[in-house]
Formats: sequence, structure tokens, C-alpha cells
Amino acid sequence: MDDLPFQPPTGPIGADELADVARRVAERPDLWEPTLDPTRERRTYSEVYTDENLGVWAIAWAADDHDTGYHDHDRSHGAVHVARGCIRHEHLQLGARPVGEAVPAGQGFRFDNTAIHRMRREPGHDLTVTIHAYSPPLEETGQYAQDDHDRLLHRVPSPSSEQLRPQGFQGDPSDGIGATRPGSRRTSVGD
Ligand SMILES: [Fe+2]
Repeated sequence: MDDLPFQPPTGPIGADELADVARRVAERPDLWEPTLDPTRERRTYSEVYTDENLGVWAIAWAADDHDTGYHDHDRSHGAVHVARGCIRHEHLQLGARPVGEAVPAGQGFRFDNTAIHRMRREPGHDLTVTIHAYSPPLEETGQYAQDDHDRLLHRVPSPSSEQLRPQGFQGDPSDGIGATRPGSRRTSVGD
């Protein structure tokens, strides 16, 4: 692809560089808006760029029930930049309510390959679009859910081609109060 707003990496890159890629792509809607085709039925995706070191996607969240559930990214580091609307970003804590915060357009977050998180459209917002950058490109995710039989938390691996959604009970909702989130750092334009 010509005219990319970033240099294709020559090897795997970390969360800081991924945050820069995601922000630059968010600022270039011509790269993703024409192919995103949002619908309330499900999240829709537009592949912006993929090579052996980097995968970049735009994702449209067009309804309040568009929700990933808790998941990890297997071997991939990642970063997300909110291009439109507002996303709720949450993390699990042992023995406490999840922590979460609303991340509006123009801001984002980054995470390493140890992070577990959940993203959903912040209720009451219009169409939300997020730009995701992963290194290496996302091939597998782990989805977290409380098993119906033993009532314990389990990790269920799934291919990245399968759309993430809450797998059963996802715990109490977060209280909306921001808190320190291990493995994740808030970023904003110019940060
Ligand atoms: Fe994720």
C-alpha cells in the first residue's frame, strides 16, 4: 500500500511504537472509513495493513451491546486508538470489582502480551471506531469466562478470525472509576 502514515517495521515492535501506529492510522480515515460498513448486528472490521510483524485493523462498534468480553492476545503486544465515539475499557482484578474507564476519541491505550482486558461501546455514544495495532499480528486470543459447572475462571483459546464476545458470566460491571491498570498505559494525541 502506498502512502502509509507509518514505516513498515523490520521486526517485532513494542507497545509504544504500536500506539504511534494506531494514532497515525486513526488520523487517516481514508485508510479505513470506506470499507468499514458499520452495522448494529455485529462489530465490523477493516484490515488496514498486515505483514509478518504488524497487523492494523479498524473496528466499528455501532451498538451498546458490542462487547468483546474479557480476553488476552496470546503472543501479541497491542495498542488501541479511539478514532470516533467512545469505548469502555476494563480490566479484571482478583477479589475486587473490575476497573474501567471511558476512553473518548483522540485517546487510546497500549498493552503488552500479558494483559487481559475487555472493550465495549460506551453506552449512549454514537458510532465508535477504534484502530488496533498488534505485533506480531494477532493470530489467537484467549477468552475468559466462569465455567457453568465448576464456577471457576477458564481461558478458552480461539482463532483471531472469530469475533470476540462475552462467553457467559463476565463478573460485576466496573464502577467507572479509573485506576491503575497493570500492563496498560493511557495515551493521548501528542503523548
Ligand atoms: Fe483486545
